[in-house]
Amino acid sequence: MARTLQTQGAVIETSEAQIAVHWREEEYYYPSAKFVGQANLTDPNVVERFSEKNFPECFREYADMLSWDQYWQTTLDTSDPPFWKWFVGGKINASYNCVDRHLAKYKNKAALIFVPEPESEAPVSVTYRELYVRVNEFAALLRDFCGLKSGDRVTIHMPMVPELPISMLACARLGVIHSVVFGGFSGEACGMRVADSQSQVLITMDGYYRNGKLLDHKAASEISLEIAKKEGQTVDKVLVWRRHPGKNASASPFVKGRDFFVDEVLPKYAGELVAPVPMDAEAPLFLMYTSGSTGKPKGCQHRTGGYLAYVTGTSKYIQDIHPEDVYWCMADIGWITGHSYIVYGPLALAATSVIYEGVPTYPDAGRVWRIAERLDVNIFHTSPTAIRMLRKAGHDEPPKYNYHFKHMTTVGEPIEPEVWRWYHDTVGKGEAVIVDTWWQTENGGFLCSTKPALDPMKPGSAGPGVPGIFPVIYDENNQEIAAGSGKAGNICIRNPWPGIMQTIWGDHDRFVTQYYTKYCKNRNSKDWHDWPYFASDGAVLAADGYFRILGRVDDVINVAGHRLGTKEIESACLTVPEVAEAAVVPVADEIKGRVPEVYIALKPGVQASPAIVDKVNKAIETMIGKIARPKHIHIVPDMPKTRSGKLMRRVLAALSNNMNTGDISTLANPDIVENIRELVQGKEAVALADGPEDLKKFGTED
Ligand code: WT7
Repeated sequence: MARTLQTQGAVIETSEAQIAVHWREEEYYYPSAKFVGQANLTDPNVVERFSEKNFPECFREYADMLSWDQYWQTTLDTSDPPFWKWFVGGKINASYNCVDRHLAKYKNKAALIFVPEPESEAPVSVTYRELYVRVNEFAALLRDFCGLKSGDRVTIHMPMVPELPISMLACARLGVIHSVVFGGFSGEACGMRVADSQSQVLITMDGYYRNGKLLDHKAASEISLEIAKKEGQTVDKVLVWRRHPGKNASASPFVKGRDFFVDEVLPKYAGELVAPVPMDAEAPLFLMYTSGSTGKPKGCQHRTGGYLAYVTGTSKYIQDIHPEDVYWCMADIGWITGHSYIVYGPLALAATSVIYEGVPTYPDAGRVWRIAERLDVNIFHTSPTAIRMLRKAGHDEPPKYNYHFKHMTTVGEPIEPEVWRWYHDTVGKGEAVIVDTWWQTENGGFLCSTKPALDPMKPGSAGPGVPGIFPVIYDENNQEIAAGSGKAGNICIRNPWPGIMQTIWGDHDRFVTQYYTKYCKNRNSKDWHDWPYFASDGAVLAADGYFRILGRVDDVINVAGHRLGTKEIESACLTVPEVAEAAVVPVADEIKGRVPEVYIALKPGVQASPAIVDKVNKAIETMIGKIARPKHIHIVPDMPKTRSGKLMRRVLAALSNNMNTGDISTLANPDIVENIRELVQGKEAVALADGPEDLKKFGTED
């Protein structure tokens, strides 16, 4: 017998045999003739050009968009699976490609436009010439003042200011591997990343504006250094950019001989030029830490040549970036979206890339559209969470402003069809084409999306694989799930691509087991066909070849499009001495998609109290940052466990989301479930429903 339930726009049908997901098929939307007329990618033959038959040589097309110091010999080397090598033998410099090579034609054009949060501060344009000067000077400082050379690591913990891409590009010029940590992460979280990457230098900033306040950001560096030291990594120098050079926004101590204000040291390097170092295509360009199933974030190591080629190609074809566009991606550079689609991709194409310092709704719900109008932005890129937030705060704001987007992107989470339609009709004024791009920190660039001038859009669906990407959905028995079957499974990518990470920094085994073991067909094979990439997302494939992403199938919670590991939050809870056990589960949220909810059991003899809840909250904020703040913290008498003592997060996730808990008769303590249910939902029984896939399957047992 099958039951059908309506949830989040989907009809989910469950039967004994399997779970089938029947989405209501949405109508297609088509790009305007005006958009198509100017688009970079209009030749339908691209599908053939990037077909499996032409793989991997098809990716020459992307690599040829770059300027190489030495052309490569081998496009793809598969001799050591799954450690693929791209454009082997080639030499290239990312900083040269994003800056120097544009000078001849575009030196006087804005590379970056910085929009400070206070509206009293005017936007600041940084031309390609100015970017060139500033990147060179800062590279000279890194080389001569800090003694950095290619292969060294530097951690950058900064807000959204032009000095952030300048720091990244200066590192890239020298072949120094940058590891940017999202500015909103705590000093502790930053310190762990400093230690893991063995960074000798930390680049930070004194302060920045957020929600109308000038925040003290440098204070975090003190904690970062302390934590890093505890983990065995000593930082020699802390470089502190100042939001207002000459003035100090931070009250934190300044350690002589270790801390340096960049604006005080930089004049020594005025006018210096640093030759871009030709790097091996396979030399690491940067690390980007992301959450996984364990308590320890993993450093995704991205290569220079393949990564740059991939973000440049997809920025051109999927983002439709031309040099004359004003492009605004509202993500933070501290996440992969910002690396690929604020800095490296757009700058490699000589675009103008907008950097906004602050909160999208500050000081009011019209701010984003005022910025778009003032700068005449024509490509806009953001997340469903931001769209939901802007819609809630100012449903009718966009038409009040005279801006016109030709193209808009959504990324990071599934987007509900209603929200998609508001984005299309109201934000895009019915004129802009939308791409819903699915990908991950590990991937470097887009994996699924429609080709904006070639494929119709379908609200809520990412679309087919982008050129050269061959996605597939496998079930738990390694069987391919057919298009149009309505069944959900694990989305995988059958082939390697230039943007895929090289490895997890310092942990090759984890790289193999996390992404390649599950669906590997033959561990001894050197044929890439035997090594599908396992993405850890659930998905359904419609008959038209469009993928609809359902969300994570592991212990990762996607909060507002940002990844948080449940284990990381649980570890933070366990630092509170009164806490014996902690379990973190996702709960559906109207704006942020998913948010964490915390369950804790106290040590024997400890009384539950609001003070303990406060302590747990504080611990999470300190260890990770405000973005990990839970919606609720429930103190429970005991955790639901299996007879072998495994904690059943799935049951807790069901209770948090008013979903059916399923069979609990095999638990060691089934009675506790009703007890917790009352605590969470109150005395009255609530209507039970089946929920979205990611919530239903949530969590490992341990
Ligand atoms: C996870 C990756 C790199 C993009 C920013 C997030 C989810 C990403 C979509 C989309 C539905 C999406 C997936 C993925 N996700 N894009 N268009 N539709 N879900 O990068 O922090 O590495 O998170 O974000 O669950 O696994 P990330």
